[in-house]
Amino acid sequence: MADKKVIAVLFGGQSSEHDISCISARTVAGAIDTSVWNVLLVGITREGRWLLAPSLASMEDGTWRESEVSAVLSPDANDHGLYVTENGRTRTVWVDTVFPVLHGLYGEDGTVQGILELARIPYVGCGVLASSVSMDKAYTKLVVQDALEAIGVRQARYLAFRREETEPEAAADAVEKAFAYPVFIKPCNAGSSKGVTRAEDRASLLAGLEEAFRHDRKLLVEETIVGHEVECAVLGGHSGVSASGVGEILAAEDAAFYDFDAKYYNAASQTVTDPVLPGGATEKIREAALAVFRAVDGFGLARVDFFCEKDGSVVFNEINTMPGFTAISMYPQLWAARGVKLTDLVARLIALAEER
Ligand SMILES: Nc1ncnc2c1ncn2[C@@H]1O[C@H](COP(=O)(O)OP(=O)(O)O)[C@@H](O)[C@H]1O
Ligand SMILES: [Mg+2]
Repeated sequence: MADKKVIAVLFGGQSSEHDISCISARTVAGAIDTSVWNVLLVGITREGRWLLAPSLASMEDGTWRESEVSAVLSPDANDHGLYVTENGRTRTVWVDTVFPVLHGLYGEDGTVQGILELARIPYVGCGVLASSVSMDKAYTKLVVQDALEAIGVRQARYLAFRREETEPEAAADAVEKAFAYPVFIKPCNAGSSKGVTRAEDRASLLAGLEEAFRHDRKLLVEETIVGHEVECAVLGGHSGVSASGVGEILAAEDAAFYDFDAKYYNAASQTVTDPVLPGGATEKIREAALAVFRAVDGFGLARVDFFCEKDGSVVFNEINTMPGFTAISMYPQLWAARGVKLTDLVARLIALAEER
């Protein structure tokens, strides 16, 4: 049908969360109303090649990676779309809207959003600044501090290190002076717990620093927060933003913390929506989620993650501007718990993109 609008779903990407993105994008693409939209599936390989995926099925079995049709976003605002190259011939394909279902670096960090701004194509989710600030755990802390303090929510105390300035033994001395073990070591720009470790002693701290620096040139060492791991979904735009209820992650007993395997492969890791939290912290968490979203100048969607301590104190952990959209992901589940079906959620996100 000629009168359908065109939406490009971007997926995969060059980050450590490539595989999760492929699963998320299948969920998202499958929920787009095809009576309104022509859906183009644009996969980015781990090596950074942009390919037109022939079908949802090719995303499922991975054969999209063998596609011989390349499709790259043109930064030229007059093209308003993709350069599609097939058999050595390139044509321009108009795109009305883009849904970048990309997690992590080179997708959730403002890079792809920058191309979309240049091209003047409406896109789902946060803009350049919100994406890049939220991607970087050190900058997030700086940007949200005042807004959180105003409502009595704290962040874990931390030390930040840059690889080129860091001598491991001196860094370990500084950490030991500031905190008691255990401490958490995290790359500033990663995700899905990649490169995150918990150190019980100096040896594991030194190993953890080395590991985190493999993922990024900047890292944080944080005091350990003991408490419930809770998340809140935010949805909205300039005309109003709402927070979902709260969800809790119950990591499997055998997982040291909610690490990558526990998050995505361990069936014993469960999520529950609307848990009973100490001190009735739910409302505070919802308030803080909106405050964080506003502080980073968020738009569209984000999942905001916290700890809730035994006494009901709320501690902000991180914000994800393109949260997971897999079948077990918290973001869609939190909205489902509020009666928002996946198809309606996806339609709302696309409508917000167009509104902006
Ligand atoms: N300061 C902390 N105290 C206790 N646990 C933490 C702390 N920081 C991180 N964690 C644990 O590590 C996991 C991954 O850290 P997180 O900051 O969420 O990074 P990622 O971007 O990889 O999701 C969290 O889900 C949590 O289980
Ligand atoms: Mg996290």
